[in-house]
Amino acid sequence: MAPTPSARYDGLAIALHWLLALMLIAMFGVGVYMVDLPVSPQRLKLYNWHKWAGITVLALSLVRLLWRLARPAPPLPASVLQAMPGWQRQAHQGTHVLMYLLFFAVPLAGWAYSSAAGFPVVWFGRIALPDFVPVSKTLADALQIGHRVLAMSLALLVLAHVAAALKHHWVDRDGLLARMLPGR
Ligand code: HEM
Ligand code: HEM
Repeated sequence: MAPTPSARYDGLAIALHWLLALMLIAMFGVGVYMVDLPVSPQRLKLYNWHKWAGITVLALSLVRLLWRLARPAPPLPASVLQAMPGWQRQAHQGTHVLMYLLFFAVPLAGWAYSSAAGFPVVWFGRIALPDFVPVSKTLADALQIGHRVLAMSLALLVLAHVAAALKHHWVDRDGLLARMLPGR
């Protein structure tokens, strides 16, 4: 008998979803906090940790994307699909695709900014990462703004995503959240 498509996300997808959700929220919080600190060893330390954790997010996002391509998302249950107007189905797909794009664009812009500003990234002080842009003040200024705008866009998408997930859970009560929770 052919296996029926799973109604839930698989264990690895769920583990990566929650791990990366926590990491991204922490990245965002630390990013906003550290830029306003006065120049100090503490600020430098936070900048380094932000960069190292950000590269880790980038690597985990690659694993996540490859896993997602290998194991497509479970289709939405027919009852949920029927209850959703067309724009909501498109928003559901669209926010997921955009978030995936930003999982790469945000850390890549941060990495490029660091290189352009003349501070190559040495991951956890051990692995020197290549610079894929030249040192340039003009480029660094543009990438600094780019990293910020992309990070803020991701934060807005996440807010919309969480609001939608909670609406499905508390208002529609359609069991969508359970697809992304550990357990049976
Ligand atoms: C992976 C997700 C990442 C998120 C969500 C994130 C988020 C942020 C945020 C919100 C800020 C504050 C922006 C502002 O208010 O001006 C920031 C600043 C910064 N980020 Fe990231 N970041 C990420 C990855 C990275 C990576 C991989 C690097 C470098 C390797 C990096 C380097 C920086 C630097 C150098 C700043 C300070 C910019 C400044 O001094 O104005 N970030 N980041
Ligand atoms: C930084 C925080 C978060 C990010 C970046 C994020 C990102 C994502 C992404 C990209 C997907 C699509 C997964 C895929 O198809 O591979 C997803 C699915 C999902 N997320 Fe989040 N998420 C975050 C936080 C949350 C929170 C706090 C909740 C719950 C309140 C939540 C609930 C869900 C649910 C229920 C799904 C599955 C939707 C479905 O059944 O199609 N997420 N999330």
